[in-house]
Amino acid sequence: AGKAADGARGLRFAAVAPNTTDAVTVPDGYAQNVVIRWGEPILRGAPAFDPDKQSAKAQAGQFGYNNDFLSLLPLPGEHGRQVLVANHEYTDEILMFKGYDPAKPTREQVETAWAAHGLSVVVVQEERKSGKLTPVTRHHLNRRLHTTSEFRLTGPAAGSDLLKTSADPTGTKVLGTLNNCAGGTTPWGTTLHGEENFNQYFANGSSATDKRYGISTGATERKWELFDKRFDVKQEPNESHRQGWVVELDPYDPDSTPRKHTALGRFKHEAAQPRLTADGRPVVYMGDDERFDYFYKFVSSKRMKKGTSRAAREHNLTLLDEGTLYVAKLTGDSPAAEIDGTGKLPNDGEFDGSGVWIPLATGKTSHVPGMTAEEVYVFTRVAGDKVGATKMDRPEDVEPSPRTGRVYVALTNNTDRGKAGKAGADEANPRSLNKHGQVLELAEHWDDPALDGFAWRLFLVAGDPDDPATYFAGFPKDKVSPISCPDNVAFDPHGNLWLSTDGNQLGSHDGLFGVATRGERRGELKQFLTVPKGAETCGPVIQDRRVLVSVQHPGEVDGASVEKPASAWPDGPGKLVRPSVVAVYRKDGRDIGV
Ligand code: FEO
Ligand code: CA
Ligand code: CA
Ligand code: CA
Repeated sequence: AGKAADGARGLRFAAVAPNTTDAVTVPDGYAQNVVIRWGEPILRGAPAFDPDKQSAKAQAGQFGYNNDFLSLLPLPGEHGRQVLVANHEYTDEILMFKGYDPAKPTREQVETAWAAHGLSVVVVQEERKSGKLTPVTRHHLNRRLHTTSEFRLTGPAAGSDLLKTSADPTGTKVLGTLNNCAGGTTPWGTTLHGEENFNQYFANGSSATDKRYGISTGATERKWELFDKRFDVKQEPNESHRQGWVVELDPYDPDSTPRKHTALGRFKHEAAQPRLTADGRPVVYMGDDERFDYFYKFVSSKRMKKGTSRAAREHNLTLLDEGTLYVAKLTGDSPAAEIDGTGKLPNDGEFDGSGVWIPLATGKTSHVPGMTAEEVYVFTRVAGDKVGATKMDRPEDVEPSPRTGRVYVALTNNTDRGKAGKAGADEANPRSLNKHGQVLELAEHWDDPALDGFAWRLFLVAGDPDDPATYFAGFPKDKVSPISCPDNVAFDPHGNLWLSTDGNQLGSHDGLFGVATRGERRGELKQFLTVPKGAETCGPVIQDRRVLVSVQHPGEVDGASVEKPASAWPDGPGKLVRPSVVAVYRKDGRDIGV
């Protein structure tokens, strides 16, 4: 490897150039395999995928659509195997069903879409001497959860009148999880899943809170309300209150009922990633992906129990039920006059400042004047409005570095920033009409995530490095890859930050990037892969021997359909385009980027 393969440890690969190839493009010397595609059977009795015979019954035993967040968990006792957990964010009926008529979906199509949402658990097998992964079908841990599976509301708002429906007078038993975007993996061996744009499934919203959450006043695009009245807000005003939570799943217990944690608030949860305080209490960071919305943290009052005993696991599943929910307020340290909306650095050379975590509720006690604790949890956005939280450029994935404790917040873009009637630029969101987004780095006071103060700075201001309104942590810009619309964040075993993008505005397909956060290479951003046409990159997992990514919504281009595909990925022309999980590894079997 020559100079091009220089870089921080873990990032020594020749950067992939921006491109529009209809493929997953990886660095020289790397190979890839499709781990699992939408529709592949994972449960006992599920049929092989047949694009001409899709049914709800088949789909309920098959891998779901539009894989997003991914987690790989250890599987002790089964050599070379791990447990893959995947989110299935949403369905693209026009790319799933031949002859789909958006004006008149059939019941079978609607129910197939219900079964294609949700979560999958599937055990995967490593190939000896490579990073290749293949699914182990019919493993006893394999599981599908979707729109009609049972979930339990737990925590301080469970059982609230705001969560009761005609089908569930207890306000605790919910059918389905919707729009699971990104997520997190807990130190106690469970996974967290953010219910994001749940508003799109509900018709006929009318209240002020429906409006604040973006529930439309008319019909929905998918028309599910015609097939189940719970999707019609006029008939079931509280059903939408039962979506928009963080779900916790125990992938090691296939009989467990996953929990929706009311203590973590209700908003368009992109993701949720925990770390532990010095005394063992989890702190969970969370973004609300909407223009001018907020980011949050939850600090538990309970300590994690170590080990995998039944008692420890049962205790740890209650950690996210008790604690304090906070929202972030940020203040810049440069004069407002120096933040002119162009992205020009202020005179002190950095977009930076201080911040406070404003408490919203602790258990059953509200800290927000005029709102009960139940209202704070169910209408968390309204609570954030009332306390004057900082309106951000679409907070997506948020992840603490396991090495330094610094927290990275992907702010994907906000093309409304600075428009008439909207908030203008501020030091944390310094560009008007922000197309490319930024990444914020947050340092908790004394590195203690239970405290309520922090310092922050922008780590990256994304875009074409030739554009003066970009910033790569001060690294020379002639040595970095262009990046646009950072969305998911993850750390590799060396402590490098990896970023996947959604909606590249620089003419290239989306991709995955790695960047050092410490040392003299800090800010040297390098592109690791690009995805096929119409796709977004998400769910990255970076292990020693492989990079795992979700290729979400390949071929999703205006005017495309099953009959007129925009992409031929992954199986070539004439085959249905299928969202899939891809593993990338080195041909020589060595570790990634060393
Ligand atoms: Fe589903 Fe915010 O990306
Ligand atoms: Ca996302
Ligand atoms: Ca400054
Ligand atoms: Ca996104």
